[in-house]
Amino acid sequence: MNKASTEVVVTGIKPTGSPHLGNYLGMIRPALDLASRRQGYVFVADGHAMTTVEDPGELAGRTVQVAATLLALGLDPARTVLYRQSDVAPVFELAWLLACSTPKGLLNRAHAYKAAQDANRDADRPADEGVSAGLFTYPVLMAADIVAMDGTLVPVGRDQAQHLEITRDVVAAFNRSFGPTFHPPLAHIDPLVETVPGTDGRKMSKSYGNVIPIFAEPQDVARRVRSIVTDSRPPEEPKSPEACTVFSLYRQLADPAEAAAMADRYRTGGVGYGEAKDRLIAALETRFGPARRTYRALMEDPAPLHRILADGAARARERAAPVLARARRARGLLP
Ligand code: ADP
Ligand code: TRP
Repeated sequence: MNKASTEVVVTGIKPTGSPHLGNYLGMIRPALDLASRRQGYVFVADGHAMTTVEDPGELAGRTVQVAATLLALGLDPARTVLYRQSDVAPVFELAWLLACSTPKGLLNRAHAYKAAQDANRDADRPADEGVSAGLFTYPVLMAADIVAMDGTLVPVGRDQAQHLEITRDVVAAFNRSFGPTFHPPLAHIDPLVETVPGTDGRKMSKSYGNVIPIFAEPQDVARRVRSIVTDSRPPEEPKSPEACTVFSLYRQLADPAEAAAMADRYRTGGVGYGEAKDRLIAALETRFGPARRTYRALMEDPAPLHRILADGAARARERAAPVLARARRARGLLP
């Protein structure tokens, strides 16, 4: 068997907000693409979202939204196991077994934790204010997510690379102390995907309010695209496609030949930003229009989605059972 067919792909998405184009290009598209070609486990990381989302109704609602998003964007539940993290109890048991061999110092440098501390410092608050033990141990739960499925390859966005390095260290520390029990997982970061810019040119992010939500009403998407900041060069003036947010988003969605033709017109002059924005709006509608309709249908009648999640949870629990038994044995817990 070649290597590709033995890889087990595992990844999770936190239900913390409406998915935007940055999430889609940076994480969802590469992850679904990879999972569709290998044995794949994709979960809604509702346990991780608990570190930031406190409102119970919001957590439940966002969880359904993320599952509906993944299905609408083409996740095939017959091929890829789709489940809620919180439905798979062995994940949380494994997290404790891993925590007990994880050096605390390793977690001090994790970026979710450091970002919370930095925000506190910037606001002149005590460094650990509002930081729960759950947020601090975030990468241990990530390691448990992955080893529970015996995962080997983990597609993530670039900003998760550091968390994945820590998860490897968490797994290695356990294996060193208690014998080879888990596969050390590898991150898979799409080399072609750069940080996706938002409407103001900074990183597209919920926290900056500069996002293009993928399933918003077409008029809303169009309004956001028209608000993308550009310079004031007139249509006839030559422009750099690379420096233009409109083009960098368009390039990710358009047919490569059409994107190359557009880049040429930028360089020679003859394309105005108004026209470029219209093209981007059309490309967004082509890509997300049909998926938006599926998404709406799933949100209106979520019964099929709940059946898919229940079936996925059963398959994920089945997959995790022997892993947990192995880890318990390694630690000397009686069967
Ligand atoms: P946000 O910054 O909007 O809060 P999240 O932190 O929830 O987004 O990110 C979820 C996933 O989407 C991560 O894997 C991250 O790498 C990816 N992602 C988010 N924003 C971008 C972006 N602007 N460019 C590329 N990937 C992104
Ligand atoms: N931490 C990831 C994020 O913020 C989500 C996540 C949780 C995850 N557990 C995981 C990703 C396990 C990959 C594997 O985007």
